[in-house]
Amino acid sequence: MKNTNKRVEEILSKMSLKDKIGQLNQDIIKVSELDKAKKAIKEKRVGSLILSSSAFAGNEFQEGAKADLINEVQKYAMDELGIPILFGRDVIHGHKTVYPIPLAMAASFNSDLIKKSYEEIALEASNEGVNWTFTPMLDVSRDPRWGRIIESPGEDPYVGAKMAEAVVKGLQGDDLTKQEKIVACAKHFIGYGQSEGGRDYHRTEISDYTLRNYYLKAFKAASEAGVKTVMSSFNEISGQPVSSSKYLMQDVLKDEIGFDGFIVSDWGAIVQLINQGVAEDEKEAAYLSINAGLDMDMVDYCYGYLEELIEEGKVDIETINESVRRILTVKVEAGLFDNPYITPVKIDYEKHAETSCKLASESMVLLKNEGILPLSKDSKIALIGPMTTEKRALLGSWTLDFDLEKTVTIFDGIKNIAPNATIETRSNYDEMGAAIRKSDVVILALGESDQVTGEARSLASIEISDMQKDIIKRAKLYGKKVIGVMCFGRCVALESVEPYFDAILYAWHLGSQTGNAAAKIIFGDEVPSGKTAVTFPRVTGQIPLYYNVSSSGRNVNGYYGIENLSNYEDVKGSPMYPFGYGLSYTTYNYSNLKVDNTKINLCDIEKGKCVKVSVDVKNTGNYDAKEIVQCYVMM
Ligand code: BGC
Repeated sequence: MKNTNKRVEEILSKMSLKDKIGQLNQDIIKVSELDKAKKAIKEKRVGSLILSSSAFAGNEFQEGAKADLINEVQKYAMDELGIPILFGRDVIHGHKTVYPIPLAMAASFNSDLIKKSYEEIALEASNEGVNWTFTPMLDVSRDPRWGRIIESPGEDPYVGAKMAEAVVKGLQGDDLTKQEKIVACAKHFIGYGQSEGGRDYHRTEISDYTLRNYYLKAFKAASEAGVKTVMSSFNEISGQPVSSSKYLMQDVLKDEIGFDGFIVSDWGAIVQLINQGVAEDEKEAAYLSINAGLDMDMVDYCYGYLEELIEEGKVDIETINESVRRILTVKVEAGLFDNPYITPVKIDYEKHAETSCKLASESMVLLKNEGILPLSKDSKIALIGPMTTEKRALLGSWTLDFDLEKTVTIFDGIKNIAPNATIETRSNYDEMGAAIRKSDVVILALGESDQVTGEARSLASIEISDMQKDIIKRAKLYGKKVIGVMCFGRCVALESVEPYFDAILYAWHLGSQTGNAAAKIIFGDEVPSGKTAVTFPRVTGQIPLYYNVSSSGRNVNGYYGIENLSNYEDVKGSPMYPFGYGLSYTTYNYSNLKVDNTKINLCDIEKGKCVKVSVDVKNTGNYDAKEIVQCYVMM
């Protein structure tokens, strides 16, 4: 650290004001338009480039990276500036190999496997020249209408903190100078998941109590895991936009939590301060953000005004030095001064597919099973529904570099895992009866498109579509057992269709290996172990519905009501499936529960004193399986 500081101070001492301000800006780079990027470097306008074609990277086609072209631009930067560029890209839940959406990963409760997945993701992305990614997304999310819930670890701060640690350690490793490691970015700081009504980009109302008990924890964990960058969010909290809040960025994140990397704005979050009504123009927006501790401007083009603001005495040169220092420190720590270029290596994509498949099967949640699953491998199956041969949706939103060819559909997965099964399928739903009559069991492959999830893709209703409800009801008419394989990005409201199913396997958008992973569970090669990391409401109107809410004085337990003690006249109080819910093929016996200390003072907890809880868990069923043991604390 001492050496890094010394090195950074030496570099800083040789930089002109223009050099310094350049480091505080990120612009776009498209590999088809390298000259634009080189021009920005020559004019000392950038310290980072984002490999992106538009502001909606999760929803639209984005040109990819190429190691040789990135090397060419990096060489240009080293020659012109003597300072390497950070090449950023949204590598959210996979690069070429796509892993489950983060909301699904969280259901695996398997930090080691998540970490391993992000090691592989970092290897694939770094091999093409990406050295910085905008992951992990740590927004506590309680509203499945919000399209971005798919990127989040769900509603629980503890699960969020565990995800933060696993993802940061997977991406950055213990030695960030290694080529296969990339700089992580914890986002969106902070409270963006609370967007009112699940409408994207909306305002939030968060008290300090809620901020500290629910929203900050995952960011604190990311900081403790050594995350090098944090992204400021678009939203305002109680009238104060985060991207101009000194309290949140400087006082809480940097000074109180001790985050020592740099903060980058979300795309356009600085210029949006004008729309949010706190800045009159771009210059004032820059003035507010830099003085609030926001170090790098992501494609806002506002920090170009910093020179004028310094001349006018509105920004202190020490403020600029501090931000540049933080950015240079990350570049030194990432080894970019010593080894700015990429030497592509051969990647074992088969191995990555195996990890993705394992994580996908651990992320799936068995919601219902009336003794029908697992199926025998020589079953006669009618496989019906829009997700039967669908590929793109299974990859989910926020995947930019996928290989569609290598994506395994539900149909292919069943063929791969149970080659002796007979599959009857119909793409024309009017003919589904014919397929069902010939079969012993019906599998309905249902779901939603990736295009109704992700950024700026919220839904007012989380009911499944009328067309799919119709398929479910018709499938039930033939007297055969009906299994639902549900491929959605969010939790959906299942109350109206649940009685029609004999089994429900919630398969989310699980990435490249969705089909194989689902088939392994359907035929019992893997035993389901996933538990929901988000509450499933019965109907849309129950939102917000999350488990960790303080108890109400009237014994209806706040939002998470008891079955017959509802806050509503027209729906039960309980959720359809609570947080932490998930069935197995086996059974477990819990015994010998022990708590070593039943009374503990708050001040002792603050000093690090712990309560140890232990329990014996015995598998009493017929399958080898794993169980996620859950322990809840109540105040
Ligand atoms: C999103 C971020 C993303 C950034 C860069 C923004 O619109 O909110 O999550 O990292 O774009 O693509």
